[in-house]
Amino acid sequence: MAKHNLQMWERLAAAGMNYTRPFGRPPKTKVGMRRFMDPRHRLKGVRLDGARVLGLAAGGGWDPVIFAKLGATTTLFDISPRQLRTVRELARKQRVAIRFVRGNMKDLSIFPDASFDLVWHCHSLVFVDDAGRVLREVGRVLAPGGTYLMSTMHPTTLRLYGSYTGNGWRPKRSYFDERPVPLISEWDATWTYGRKQVVAPTIEYGHRFETIINGMVAGGMVVDGVWEFSPGPPEPGAELGSDAHLDTIFPAFIEVRGRKLPFQPDRRDRPKGAGHAGVPGGSGRPRAR
Ligand SMILES: C[S@@+](CC[C@H](N)C(=O)[O-])C[C@H]1O[C@@H](n2cnc3c(N)ncnc32)[C@H](O)[C@@H]1O
Repeated sequence: MAKHNLQMWERLAAAGMNYTRPFGRPPKTKVGMRRFMDPRHRLKGVRLDGARVLGLAAGGGWDPVIFAKLGATTTLFDISPRQLRTVRELARKQRVAIRFVRGNMKDLSIFPDASFDLVWHCHSLVFVDDAGRVLREVGRVLAPGGTYLMSTMHPTTLRLYGSYTGNGWRPKRSYFDERPVPLISEWDATWTYGRKQVVAPTIEYGHRFETIINGMVAGGMVVDGVWEFSPGPPEPGAELGSDAHLDTIFPAFIEVRGRKLPFQPDRRDRPKGAGHAGVPGGSGRPRAR
């Protein structure tokens, strides 16, 4: 699966689709850069200057470069060589130093325990089957007191895209079905960016809230924020039953923030099944920040 999704991201990046190019131009001030990268202020109070930051699956965009500009010792980890290359070129132009590591987020063994103060993980957990494994790895590499911020597709909304019947939404499978959502056979897999269209059937999993929260707990984190949101203001003329319409009545994304505890929690306190992920995922591709 990792190999398949890698090929798809290489294809998307070669075509310069959404999520594979640095969008916009960040402001020059430190405050402006922070707002540009973290518009909902989820990192309020988190020190970046001098911090060790891991941009997990954060290729293709501005974020790692901004962390570096804000004084963080920054590592970018991504599976796609093209996504890494885009940031390498941007970093060179912007004259900042970043460490680049290629790999599958299910295996962060290249990083020692407690080696990061912040793990920044946007819109990519859908591309792995075993979310619990990724979250345990994140917990391992986070230093005590460190922050983890992740965003991904909303597990309910993801199961509703493309399911409008003319009379309401009718999901093809249950919330508890752990297969990818949708199955490749059910999705035409066309990604659109402006007038460009690319067929790239990424395999995506709609990890449930309990998988994510319990996975973070199993990784030694405490969850201190959960948010549900859609990318922009409601589109007034959104066609009934379209993805844009659905995003006006249900949240497209979730964000979850965790803090690594300064001690290893008692295993007996952990929720049963924590750490076993494998939830089905998604049809919709990530659409916006
Ligand atoms: C939607 S893009 C997110 C890009 C960037 N983080 C952002 O928010 O703009 C998903 C990223 O996940 C990467 N990716 C997909 N599967 C991965 C895996 N198993 N391990 C590491 N990176 C992966 C892709 O190469 C791609 O860069």
